[in-house]
Amino acid sequence: MSSPSMTLLYSPASPFVRKALVLLHETGQLDRVALQEVQLSPTAPSAAVNAQNPAGKIPALRLADGNVLVDSRVILEYLDQQHVGEPLIPPGGSARWRRLSLAALADAILDAAVLMRYETFLRPADKRWPEWLDGQRAKIEQSLQHFENEAIAELSSRFDIAAIGLACAIGYLDLRQPELGWRQRCPQLAAWYAEVSRRPSLQATQPK
Ligand code: BEZ
Repeated sequence: MSSPSMTLLYSPASPFVRKALVLLHETGQLDRVALQEVQLSPTAPSAAVNAQNPAGKIPALRLADGNVLVDSRVILEYLDQQHVGEPLIPPGGSARWRRLSLAALADAILDAAVLMRYETFLRPADKRWPEWLDGQRAKIEQSLQHFENEAIAELSSRFDIAAIGLACAIGYLDLRQPELGWRQRCPQLAAWYAEVSRRPSLQATQPK
C-alpha cells in the first residue's frame, strides 16, 4: 500500500464529497487520498476550507504538487483519469455527453435537496418561503421522473459517473427528505437503487 499523495477535504454528510469517495472505491484508489475532515455550513464557514477553496465549499482536493481542485465534477473527472481501469466517464463521443448530462441532472437533484435542507433546517421558521420550497421539490420530482422514464436502461447497463451521481443524490434524499415518497412514482428507479445500494462503494460511504 502506497502512502497518500492527495488530500480530500471532506465531511461525512456531504453528498458531493460522497461522489468522490464512491469513485475512489470503484476505481481502487482509496489509498492514494488522505481524508481531512472539516465542519462547515453556510452560516459557519470553515477556515481550513476557505484556505483551500475561496468559495468555501467541499469537496476540495489538494494534489501532491500543492494545486487544489475544487468542484465535485472537476474532482471526479481528475480522479477518473488517474487509474488504469475502464473510465467511469466516457472519454469521447455521444456517450460522454449523455452520461455527463445525466450526472449533471443528478447534481441538480442534489442542489435542490441541499437548498431545501438549508431552508428547513438553518433558516429561522418565520423566514421560510413555502413556494420556493415547492419549486425545489418540483425540480427533484421532475428529474427523478426523467430518470424513471428515459434513462433506466442506461443506468442499469453500467455503474458509471451518472449512476454514481444519482445513487448519491438518492442516498441524500433518503437522509434529508425521506418524506418525498418518490418510490411509488418511480418504481423502476427504486428497484435500481435497491440493487446498486448493495455495492461495497455505496455501503462504505453511507451518510451518517
Ligand atoms: C447536510 O448535512 O445535509 C450537508 C452536509 C454537507 C454538505 C451539504 C449538505
